[in-house]
Amino acid sequence: MLKAGLSRRTFIGGSVVLGALLTNFRFAKAFVAPSLPYRRKKIANIRELRTHRPIMFNYPDENSPAILVKIGRPAIGGIGPDKDIVAFSALCTHQGCPIQYSRGRFICKCHYSMFDPAKNGQTYQGHASEWLPQIRLRLDRKGNIYAEAIEGLVWGRVINLLPK
Ligand code: FES
Repeated sequence: MLKAGLSRRTFIGGSVVLGALLTNFRFAKAFVAPSLPYRRKKIANIRELRTHRPIMFNYPDENSPAILVKIGRPAIGGIGPDKDIVAFSALCTHQGCPIQYSRGRFICKCHYSMFDPAKNGQTYQGHASEWLPQIRLRLDRKGNIYAEAIEGLVWGRVINLLPK
């Protein structure tokens, strides 16, 4: 009887944790998406960056535009001395239009969705319901900035790494 009660409790507890993971999509994809075999790619050196001046690059492949930017305030996943350097896919999660960086936010001019670069690319206005995929960055001792993985699905893809 006691054993059955413990099993039930364990099952219910496990179900609650699993349910929380599955209902919080951002949390779940933070664990799932970066596990793909992404390649490491140098984007820029920290000395090249100026606050609010984005640098365009492509990641995880040459058909996927992305933006690196120093936003001037600490960001989730931000690197550098001020933790304010972040990178994101530059394709809007609504219908894939190019997004632009403007005064501390990302804007899609097709239908005016807006995304917060300090909060994992959270969408806070417009038609887009998915957050912008954030690119995981690494800074080496020489100040080189590398893209290492991407969290979230790039617009228009079923998997971020296309077959070669
Ligand atoms: S494509 Fe960006 S808001 Fe519609």
